[in-house]
Amino acid sequence: MSEKRGRATVVLGGQWGDEGKGKIVDFLAESHDVVVRFQGGANAGHTIRTEGQEYIFHLIPSGILMEGKDCILGGGLVVDPLELAEELAGLRARGVAVEGRVFLSSSAHMLLPYHKVLDRLEEESKKGKSIGTTGRGIGPAYKDKASRTGLRAEMYAKEDERLERILMERVIEINRHIAALYDAEALSPKETVDKIMAVKPVIKPMLVDSHRYLQDAMRAGKDILLEGAQGTMLDLDHGTYPFVTSSNPSIGGAIVGSGVAPKHLKDVIGIFKAYCTRVGNGPFPSELHGEEGESLRQEGAEFGATTGRPRRCGWFDLVAARYSAEVNGLTQLVITKFDILCGMKKVQVCTGYRIGDEIYEHYPRDLSVLEQAEPVLREFEGWDEKLGDARNWDEIPEAAKVYLKYLSDELETPILYVSVGPDRKQIIPAGEF
Ligand code: GDP
Ligand code: IMO
Ligand code: MG
Repeated sequence: MSEKRGRATVVLGGQWGDEGKGKIVDFLAESHDVVVRFQGGANAGHTIRTEGQEYIFHLIPSGILMEGKDCILGGGLVVDPLELAEELAGLRARGVAVEGRVFLSSSAHMLLPYHKVLDRLEEESKKGKSIGTTGRGIGPAYKDKASRTGLRAEMYAKEDERLERILMERVIEINRHIAALYDAEALSPKETVDKIMAVKPVIKPMLVDSHRYLQDAMRAGKDILLEGAQGTMLDLDHGTYPFVTSSNPSIGGAIVGSGVAPKHLKDVIGIFKAYCTRVGNGPFPSELHGEEGESLRQEGAEFGATTGRPRRCGWFDLVAARYSAEVNGLTQLVITKFDILCGMKKVQVCTGYRIGDEIYEHYPRDLSVLEQAEPVLREFEGWDEKLGDARNWDEIPEAAKVYLKYLSDELETPILYVSVGPDRKQIIPAGEF
């Protein structure tokens, strides 16, 4: 046993997803030994840019570009094995050494082709009340998990004939469900089973008992990075239900989905964009409509990494961020896309919600209340300096520091880094205010 036990640091989304988690995990992977994705599935789109190359990861942890680091898809995920095989093949084709470095928890649930069909059918049936999901089958896969009818990755350890039989029965059962509820076209059982079986040679060797792996790694002194997907405001329990995803992107999901117990946690780092975005439907009180929103969307290139949908854009929502800091017990903040705010005459922050005659500083969890919220805005002086080339705290203009200090004070959490561009190098360790 090593003298020093390894510890775990959580990196999670503080807002509605797409905060730049992938970039930060990639950066922090250098000082860690193992990176574990802890929830969600291929609804995630985590972008990393380095040396002129861009990579978008949907399932594979964002530590994969750091040579020598192991990557684990944790038990809390719903994993589409076809997508995983494709993502691995894509990385291999680009010369990334993935062999022997990517492991799949045998208790992760399998997201199979019928989950995607069900996702689409469920959304269509909601008509005007749809959630605006990514269509990646997430809700139906977690539904199967909670109903105890799901299949876990360990299924790939079974011999072919037995697995084929189990899958065939499952597809036939799903077809019955589809016919009864939606009067939609059935899936071809043979074709579906063949597709799932075809990737067995890729998936089976990746299976790991992730509990044992991580316990042994920490005992051997290895430090672990726990990578979240989505964001706290999309959390099934803490987010804007029902306009949420079906997993827990917040701290609870990190514990459950990795199996690392709280006493091993070193830090909980919340990633926040310097403004806010949201993809899909649901309340977003600080949203900017019209030209202002469009301009932020163009400046920030705010188009979904998974679906290509335009992201809704708005000012930094401090009411939601305070709530997120509380829910997660954040110990550090990273502010991303800070470069995007430059050149604005005034930068605004949503400090409260006006609902009827009342001002709310605490997040109202009742959707019917939230839906009426109007933003109370506080204005800050803008700054003109382009920050893309800045690498030191001294290069950040005073007006920008006033904005950052305000966020840090209000969230009662220190800032660790400020990100000023998509590249791995465009990151500044925060200094004193
Ligand atoms: P994630 O899902 O949280 O990993 O974030 P996404 O990858 O979906 O979206 C973040 C987008 O912003 C990606 O296109 C990143 O390349 C980009 N990005 C990340 N950090 C910065 C930054 O500091 N400045 C700019 N301009 N772009 C950034
Ligand atoms: P990353 O990890 C932003 C949103 C969808 C929809 C809701 C439910 O890249 O930050 P789902 O397909 O999960 O059932 O959709 O959640 N959503 C995301 N929004 N970033 C993501 O992931 C998201 N993953 C899901 O747009 O509103
Ligand atoms: Mg994303």
